[in-house]
Amino acid sequence: LRIAVLFGGRSAEHDVSVLSATNAVRAMDPEKYDVIPVFITREGVWLLSHFEGGELTQPASGTEICPVPGGRGRLLAIPPEGAPFELPAISALFPVLHGLPGEDGAVQGLAEVALVPLIGCGVLGSATALDKDIAKRLLLQAGLPAARSITIRRGEAPKFAALSGELGLPLFIKPARQGSSVGVSKVTGEDDYLAALELGFRHDGKLLAEEFIKGREIECSVLEDAQGTLFVSRPGEIVTGQSHGFYSYEAKYIDEAGAQLVVPAVLPEAVEAAIRETAGKAFQALGCDAMARVDFFVTEDMRFLVNELNTIPGFTNISMYAKAMAASGIAYPDVIDRLIAHGLT
Ligand code: DAL
Ligand code: MG
Repeated sequence: LRIAVLFGGRSAEHDVSVLSATNAVRAMDPEKYDVIPVFITREGVWLLSHFEGGELTQPASGTEICPVPGGRGRLLAIPPEGAPFELPAISALFPVLHGLPGEDGAVQGLAEVALVPLIGCGVLGSATALDKDIAKRLLLQAGLPAARSITIRRGEAPKFAALSGELGLPLFIKPARQGSSVGVSKVTGEDDYLAALELGFRHDGKLLAEEFIKGREIECSVLEDAQGTLFVSRPGEIVTGQSHGFYSYEAKYIDEAGAQLVVPAVLPEAVEAAIRETAGKAFQALGCDAMARVDFFVTEDMRFLVNELNTIPGFTNISMYAKAMAASGIAYPDVIDRLIAHGLT
């Protein structure tokens, strides 16, 4: 099988995608898969990459790659000089992209248009999950627990007193469509609020102000098999170091001591079962298929709330998706095999 793996991309999570894709490709059995890595530059140009010595090349320029609409996997290669040529057709497109655009349904739609099987979640679930405002409405509508929030559009920010009166303090300001905590601020007072709005609006025209939930960060991996049956992993816990106020971008990827994963999370049996069941329901409520990581907050009194869903969860060495699956008996190469089998069905 020839699998085109897309990575990099225009989002703020470009570097995370490079790490994720490198790990994913390392886990793809070369006996089974012929990987065609495609590096998407920060400007959005698709370039032919190579997997060499365990690493993916990130060319600054070179041969551009383009799936042919309706082409059933045909790929056009456009070298900087000389005539365009065709590569052998691919069997599937596997986007390992985080954030916008890439995890939001855009690339997933391209696979549909190109009539090529897609590995991972499809257009609808990708789009709903990436927009925290839309996702929250769907979760609440399905009767699932989520933190209280207020959506803020550019130019329509409520007065601080009104917002803090409604949500309490501290509160969080987050861009609606960003991942890895990019652009997220914890707000404790009016001065922070203005700075948080400014930072948030740099990343999106729509923000969420969300109540602060004092609780543990618990995550479950969901994997759908080719027959449509959901497998929900045992939950894992992210334990954030004292120095980070929350599970920020730094804590996630830069400061190695910033966060620790405890898998499986230590939870009462009944709570674990309820969380796993809710993870499956959240996946369905958002219209997801194939794969997602469902993130929760669990309070001291064992109340839990769905925080968000990530349809292309981090696949780095320190990421939860694979660790939680492994703790549930599904090793990383197996996850990849199952995802590919799902995509090809
Ligand atoms: N958005 C990052 C990659 C995650 O959720 O894992
Ligand atoms: Mg995320």
